Amino acid sequence: MLDPQRHQAGHDTAYSAWAETHVQTFSVAYRYDVAFTRDAFDPENPLLVDIIRRIEPDKRHRLAVFIDEGLTFALPKLVPRIARYIAHHGRSMDLVGDIVVVPGGEAVKNDHGHVERMLADLVARRIDRHSYVVAIGGGAVLDAVGFACALFHRGCRHIRFPATVLAQDDSGVGVKNAINAYGQKNLLGTFAPPFAVINDSALLDALPLREKRAGLSEAVKVALIRDGAFFDWMEANADAIAAFEPNAVDRTIRRSAELHMRQIALGGDPFEMGSARPLDFGHWAAHKLEVLTRHDLRHGEAVAVGIALDTRYSVLAGLLPAGTDERVLALLKRLGLPVWSDALDLLDMHGCRRVTAGLNDFREHLGGELTVTLLAGVGRGVEVHEIDPHLVDGAIRWLKKRA
Ligand SMILES: NC(=O)c1ccc[n+]([C@@H]2O[C@H](COP(=O)([O-])OP(=O)(O)OC[C@H]3O[C@@H](n4cnc5c(N)ncnc54)[C@H](O)[C@@H]3O)[C@@H](O)[C@H]2O)c1
Ligand SMILES: [Zn+2]
Repeated sequence: MLDPQRHQAGHDTAYSAWAETHVQTFSVAYRYDVAFTRDAFDPENPLLVDIIRRIEPDKRHRLAVFIDEGLTFALPKLVPRIARYIAHHGRSMDLVGDIVVVPGGEAVKNDHGHVERMLADLVARRIDRHSYVVAIGGGAVLDAVGFACALFHRGCRHIRFPATVLAQDDSGVGVKNAINAYGQKNLLGTFAPPFAVINDSALLDALPLREKRAGLSEAVKVALIRDGAFFDWMEANADAIAAFEPNAVDRTIRRSAELHMRQIALGGDPFEMGSARPLDFGHWAAHKLEVLTRHDLRHGEAVAVGIALDTRYSVLAGLLPAGTDERVLALLKRLGLPVWSDALDLLDMHGCRRVTAGLNDFREHLGGELTVTLLAGVGRGVEVHEIDPHLVDGAIRWLKKRA
């Protein structure tokens, strides 16, 4: 008979009357570099080759490259330029096979055939766990290639070149990937930190204005929950940011990326094991609005509406001083972002606003109790576990008047 009392703190073996359990614990330190540059594929720019040579500097490293089709239309000389860069650094890098063009936007995440073809491309190129898989594109392409990379050989070295404002200031610098499945966005995916991220401002030159603007909302979001001084700076420089003056946009992207990275490194839950989604301020409504508008609203646009809604809600809930809502709305508008969507007014068969179903989706995604980030001040996010539908209704009516 095992002694039920013998389980002591610090012991790696636990006993009960029923079992002897060996407790296995270890931790893994992750490191990846997020670099900011301009014109990474100028043969004289050493950044990529230096990153590739970080491990085994004298080896000739094998590379597979995937690129977003939208980017190849916008920058037609990019593919040959990448090939020339790799050839120029041929002592350290070997491009295996052609550069693979993959569809951009949600299309690449919706049809699993694309990820399967990527995996077949990796097999054909005999990519191994020490080879590099480079992805250049918007958040959707990075998500899909990142997913393929995480599966292949249980994970190979992955270098990202985010090509939209949103991917550079938020999604591309993080640790998640996903594809859509069974009618649900991001249902299949992994937490897989990249080998490195290169934010190349030249990739944004040909990005359509609407896409550029959409990515700014994530910077407003992270400023509101984490960094009041950054929010003040964005307010003071709103015209320059809205005009996409290079210095202003550069600073916005860098600070936003830095704040997102800090949350992952220091927030205590990089792989989202708990119930909170601390960076997802404004997102419970945003995700639902994307679906309700059949993706007419870009993710960043939906986030802007979600931020406006949750800021007003924070005031109505007594968490945030009145007036801050007007201030946040004014900045979003000056940045050319929407603060209203007609989808907020859609009702279900019971007369309830359809957007509020987003709260349940939000809770279900993590599986724990509902946790929503609201504002207690500019730069101060707070978590709450209950949302009052009457206050949501009041916030929506307030927004409609200001749309
Ligand atoms: N993994 C994460 O943590 C995370 C976080 C937030 C969002 N996301 C995902 O990111 C996706 C949205 O990404 P997005 O906003 O970057 O847009 P996107 O990837 O959907 O791209 C939008 C469009 O722009 C094109 N494009 C991309 N870069 C371009 C460029 N430089 N010039 C011209 N056209 C270009 C694409 O081909 C596409 O048609 C969503 O699928 C979302 O779920 C992931
Ligand atoms: Zn987002």
